[in-house]
Amino acid sequence: MILNRVLILGILILTIMMSPSGGEEIVADHVAYYGVNVYQSYGPSGQYTHEFDGDEEFYVDLEKKETVWRLPVFSTFTSFDPQGALRNLAIAKQNLNILIERSNQTAATNEVPEVTVFSKSPVMLGQPNTLICLVDNIFPPVINVTWLKNRHSVTEGVSETSFLAKGDHSFSKISYLTFLPSAEDIYDCKVEHWGLDEPLLKHWEPEVPTPMSELTETVVCALGLAVGLVGIVMGTVFIIQGLRSGGTSRHQGPL
Ligand SMILES: *[C@@H]1O[C@H](CO)[C@@H](O)[C@H](O)[C@H]1NC(C)=O
Ligand SMILES: *[C@@H]1O[C@H](CO)[C@@H](O)[C@H](O)[C@H]1NC(C)=O
Repeated sequence: MILNRVLILGILILTIMMSPSGGEEIVADHVAYYGVNVYQSYGPSGQYTHEFDGDEEFYVDLEKKETVWRLPVFSTFTSFDPQGALRNLAIAKQNLNILIERSNQTAATNEVPEVTVFSKSPVMLGQPNTLICLVDNIFPPVINVTWLKNRHSVTEGVSETSFLAKGDHSFSKISYLTFLPSAEDIYDCKVEHWGLDEPLLKHWEPEVPTPMSELTETVVCALGLAVGLVGIVMGTVFIIQGLRSGGTSRHQGPL
């Protein structure tokens, strides 16, 4: 009887562990895209990239007809012939023209991009760092991502990825700005896209403790200490009073 129950319990636990919906999600170890071919009628323009685990390995510069590695070190031990990418995009262009005809020239729907700005490392004033502007849910892949420092456009120290493929057929793009954190400088990542009524500015500034908040901390600390001291004094007084009145009541007891 008991053995049966233990067996049933064991089988139940096994079932829960093995069913993909009941337990953890099954995740692939690594995912590589050996050729993301994008072609669109706007421009017209295309993009050919290879990705590994969501990171861009390289893109093919379609005008210069050359492979551009995201990390140049890769080009020392591997290579990619850009002609293959150009052939693929020529086919994509033909296919797109057919699809445009079949859809009666119906234009693609603009999505609203999502923008997040954060620093690569924890901010230390005077320590070189990198600001990262992550733009998600990009569709169609036509966008301007630029940086403002103290409300003025900056181009130095700026770089960006190609359009990175997402599972839902939208794209993401990451723009980087190397900078030297200072208490005075404020930054904005500016995004222009057809899904937005006006350019979107995502603000960022270093979180530096201000003298005011330090003062507040000191005041709170001093108040806490004062309350604590008052507590100790009051407590002592109460204990002494208690001892005295206890003594009195004992004396009064027998009366
Ligand atoms: C395109 O237009 C034709 C003729 O007006 C129509 O029959 C067809 O269903 C349309 N196709 C689409 C995808 O809207
Ligand atoms: C990007 O900037 C260029 C140049 O200022 C402009 O012509 C284009 O319309 C902008 N693109 C978007 C999607 O706003």
